[in-house]
Amino acid sequence: MSSLARCLSRVMCLLAVTTISVSLSSHTWKEEGVVYGKIGDTVTLTCSNRNASSEVVWRFNGSSNIRWGNVTDHGDLELPRVGPSAMGHYSCYDQSGGRLQSVLLRVGYPPGIPFVTCRAADYHNFSCRWNSSVETLLPTRYITSYRVDRNSPEICVQDPRHPNTCSVRSSKLWTSYQMNITEENPLGSSFRILEFTVQSIVKPDPPEIVLAEPVPHAPRRLRVTWAYPSTWPQEPHFQLKFRLQYRPVLHMLWSMVETANLTDIITDAFMGLEHIVQVSARDFLDAGNWSEWSMEARATPWTSTEMPEPVLELSNETTTEEPEPQVKEPFDPVEKAAVMISLGIFAFVVLVIFLAVGALIWVRVGRTMKDGGIKANFLTAIHMKTLPKNQIL
Ligand SMILES: *[C@@H]1O[C@H](CO)[C@@H](O)[C@H](O)[C@H]1NC(C)=O
Ligand SMILES: *[C@@H]1O[C@H](CO)[C@@H](O)[C@H](O)[C@H]1NC(C)=O
Repeated sequence: MSSLARCLSRVMCLLAVTTISVSLSSHTWKEEGVVYGKIGDTVTLTCSNRNASSEVVWRFNGSSNIRWGNVTDHGDLELPRVGPSAMGHYSCYDQSGGRLQSVLLRVGYPPGIPFVTCRAADYHNFSCRWNSSVETLLPTRYITSYRVDRNSPEICVQDPRHPNTCSVRSSKLWTSYQMNITEENPLGSSFRILEFTVQSIVKPDPPEIVLAEPVPHAPRRLRVTWAYPSTWPQEPHFQLKFRLQYRPVLHMLWSMVETANLTDIITDAFMGLEHIVQVSARDFLDAGNWSEWSMEARATPWTSTEMPEPVLELSNETTTEEPEPQVKEPFDPVEKAAVMISLGIFAFVVLVIFLAVGALIWVRVGRTMKDGGIKANFLTAIHMKTLPKNQIL
């Protein structure tokens, strides 16, 4: 009983599957009164409803002059090597001028193998995009399916709002996906198979809210901050790392640094020049690909010209004092930096000496405070070492 039921249900299932696939692959192209032909092939249009004995007349878009076609003995219209110019409405008429049949001929090419790329913006969903490789000139649709670990195929869902893409939700890590993107038109079908794991196609969206700003009193520094792409789920086990590229607006070559943080300080910016900064992201463990570059952020490093502003204001009032800032300016930043650096070094040396002296004193005091045992041992050790030497000598 149960085996019979199972058998029956299986048969029903098979039937359901076959009817679905039949309806999927045939119904859309069976438009009433449309005939499809492949460019370069011979297309034969039949005049149905005709009286077997009587002659027929064919017209193309109303005109009876069809130089590119021959009417056969059966009243069919044969069109050898059709080209795009043969596209149009063909009608056949009987002797009395009554229209027997009218068809629209559309010509084109069968599909080529589509170009497909798949990308995961995070570890939960991924989507595939495709482009046709041949301009077929014909209505086209795509059948998109995938298999996980070679199980039975599932549908990669197409959203009409985003043509030529399909997406898979709740994707699994460490499993092999076999994607099948099939392009189909009235003249045939062509598919491309893509096999991948989700981590190999992960490519985050670019970082967001990228900001660059000067660092006060640091003429060669820029502080850059950014945020995770909002599409990347904030989870501790799927982190991103980042890279920055930056250059002065007028230069061509980018400099690049990598970081795991959400902020970084550029230390070799060009003084006084406006810089462009962009950030991109990648899975922390190097899976997949770098994201596209983020939106540009722009900033100019801090400049000392902001300091002598009151002086400039004064000089504006009294034009005679103009030479003074001019003389000062070229010296100012370099001299200041040099003085600052030497002062810093001097302070450091003094500090080191002070610390060393302090340490020495501390050690001395510590030793004398402790029992003289160590000292004695130390001395006896030296003594014992020197003894044999003396004996040899
Ligand atoms: C992934 O799927 C979840 C729900 O399944 C959805 O909320 C989220 O927006 C999707 N992410 C992307 C990038 O499509
Ligand atoms: C891909 O899908 C098409 C349409 O469903 C199917 O005809 C074809 O056999 C599939 N190819 C593979 C390798 O599964």
